[in-house]
Amino acid sequence: MFTLGIESTCDETAASVVHAGKKILSNVTASQADLHARYGGVFPEMAARRHADAMVPVIEEALAQSGVAAEDIDLIAVAKGPGLIGPLLLGLHAAKSLSLAWKKPLVGVNHVEAHLFAAMMECDPILPALGVVISGGHTFLVKIDALGKYTMIGKTVDDAIGEAFDKVAVMLGLSYPGGPVLEELARQGNPLKYRFHPGKVKGRPWDFSFSGLKTNVLYTIKGQDSDKNAPCRVEEEEKPHIAAAFQETALGDIVAKAWKAATEFECQAIYLGGGVSQNGRLRAMFQEKNSHIPVIFPPKGLSVDNAAMIAGLGYHVFLRQGADGLDLEPQTRIPL
Ligand code: KG4
Ligand code: ZN
Repeated sequence: MFTLGIESTCDETAASVVHAGKKILSNVTASQADLHARYGGVFPEMAARRHADAMVPVIEEALAQSGVAAEDIDLIAVAKGPGLIGPLLLGLHAAKSLSLAWKKPLVGVNHVEAHLFAAMMECDPILPALGVVISGGHTFLVKIDALGKYTMIGKTVDDAIGEAFDKVAVMLGLSYPGGPVLEELARQGNPLKYRFHPGKVKGRPWDFSFSGLKTNVLYTIKGQDSDKNAPCRVEEEEKPHIAAAFQETALGDIVAKAWKAATEFECQAIYLGGGVSQNGRLRAMFQEKNSHIPVIFPPKGLSVDNAAMIAGLGYHVFLRQGADGLDLEPQTRIPL
């Protein structure tokens, strides 16, 4: 069974062809990072317009690279949310049009569940497992008993981890998206030179909070009680140390909670998902734990937003629940 996946929840227009939910035949992503860089974050209306331009060429490219003819596609899977309303509408319209024109079933996929699925899609999952989704929009720990059977353990009460990386990167004068550039800068820094503290959420030991840490970094860079538009007060050579200390604190918090949760909830493996899972320091921190519990990261191209994870998960959702109707609505917020 060949599934065409379509992803357009935020600032990536993506299409992919996947066989039997597992074998990726093509995975095409057109990033809009250049467009949003000048705003230091995603500009929703511009994102929707760029999706409109990119959608058809990206789908055509995914079909061409896969070698599968349009008439041999059996299922169309589309990210139905969570995400930005304009971008979501573009993806859903594309998917519905193709479903109607090709007379093929349509299935809506939860984008966040797809991030969770990405690291397990090409192999047989080890379950029960702990899922750790760390992206620009989401940060949570979940117990996975089976595909579609999740128990939320903890989540962020304010910023997502990727959002915190992006915002701290702006404070340090770095370009968008900030995560990879901040990681690069942090490599030249001493993480112990500055002392930041991970956020605590009263009475909720598994939850995350990054806004206090972000303010801590802001005051270090721009002075106590300053706002984000204040001028930078630290020397250039201090920035790598601040970046390193922020990264160590934020990622250290995630690794510590993930580890504790995996043990306490008797998980056989840890699966990571989302753009921040590409971070090299995060991977090293998990390795330093040196434990018997396997820690599995998404393969290249499956960490950040992509359509292969949508097509892959779409296949399983379709087998379990059947097709959605053409009245499928975008959902800007959906729980897992
Ligand atoms: O999963 P993703 O593509 O989008 C969402 O669904 O949100 O993740 C994008 C996020 C951005 O915030 C970006 O800065 C962050 O992932 N990111 C990183 C790294 N690479 C991407 N954060 C830290 N270190 C990285 N190497
Ligand atoms: Zn995402």
